[in-house]
Amino acid sequence: MLTCFACARPHDAAAPTKVCDACGMPLRVDLDLPPGAPEERIRREDASLWRYADLLPVPRARAVTLGEGWTPVVGVGDDVWIKDESRNPTGSFKARGMSLAVSAAVERGAQRLVAPSAGNAAGALAAYGAHAGVPVAVAMPADTPRAFVDECHHYGAQVHLVDGTIADAGRFLAERRGPADVDVSTMREPYRVEGKKTMGYELFEQFDGDLPDVVVYPTGGGTGLVGMWKAWNELERLGWIGSARPRLVVVQAAGCAPIVRAHDRGADGTEPWLQPATAAFGLRVPSPIGGFLCLRAIAGTAGTAVAVAEERIHHAAAALAAHSGLDICPEGGAAWAAVAQLRADDWIRPGERTVVFNTGTGLKYR
Ligand SMILES: Cc1ncc(COP(=O)(O)O)c(C=O)c1O
Repeated sequence: MLTCFACARPHDAAAPTKVCDACGMPLRVDLDLPPGAPEERIRREDASLWRYADLLPVPRARAVTLGEGWTPVVGVGDDVWIKDESRNPTGSFKARGMSLAVSAAVERGAQRLVAPSAGNAAGALAAYGAHAGVPVAVAMPADTPRAFVDECHHYGAQVHLVDGTIADAGRFLAERRGPADVDVSTMREPYRVEGKKTMGYELFEQFDGDLPDVVVYPTGGGTGLVGMWKAWNELERLGWIGSARPRLVVVQAAGCAPIVRAHDRGADGTEPWLQPATAAFGLRVPSPIGGFLCLRAIAGTAGTAVAVAEERIHHAAAALAAHSGLDICPEGGAAWAAVAQLRADDWIRPGERTVVFNTGTGLKYR
């Protein structure tokens, strides 16, 4: 069953995927979680996110998969690990969400898949659409680095470059959407969160059933943050963890920080960020529809929100790459810079196990 995250109205899961009929806000997948221990429910022989097929809304047999997920956590210093999402197909964590979203859309008879993107989601959608044999159209801001555009063409997608931000790209596609098109935009269908939630399950396994103390996540639309928060709530319902949670840290760029601003003001929703500017393109999301859910996830885990200045983002990405040998993207650099700030403020205390998300490859930004 699907339930509106905002007004709790129920929706039929077999219907085409979309937002709430009543209030236009994001829908959540509510699963019947079959009881059973992790040994029975996790297929450990599958080195992809489909090891959690029992906790996902698409049967393994109908998965559109390129082997996404089950990425390593790499230690980079005392009590700090990088969850390295650059290892995914198409080089980012967007592969997780698109595997589930494309699988669900194909099950419901999608004729064409469309989405606006900051770059990485477009590449992932193009690849999963190609694998499923369903045409894809994406729209991206005109200043998106060339490698993201080339990647989409490489997978045979139709690409539109639009002046402005991802919000303008979304409006461009909405005006041209055909009746058989399925929109898989961030938080405008419920299955990308289902793919991203597997990051939360993986941390459970990778920390031997004992989650880390702090999780630092570069946030644009917030799918991964909301996904992990949902994952841990599901694990508690299954009885695999207790009520303790990692403290979730939303990291945004100072040039586009609607969630940080709302958090600092104690608001329960975000206001559009005017004139957003950052070269961490995945964080250039001026009006996230799921912003209120990110704020709930922060509040529900005693977390916080941090904005990082533009020049610190790029220094931190370069410094972490040179220190670790990992392929760090600007968004991962922002998260790394936030860790230094939170340690200096003693918000992260010595000995607290901290996981920092490197959400994609840095190579496409050159
Ligand atoms: C590399 C990278 N990091 C972070 C984000 C933000 O992700 P989310 O929308 O899940 O907050 C994006 C989104 O485009 C991205 O491409």
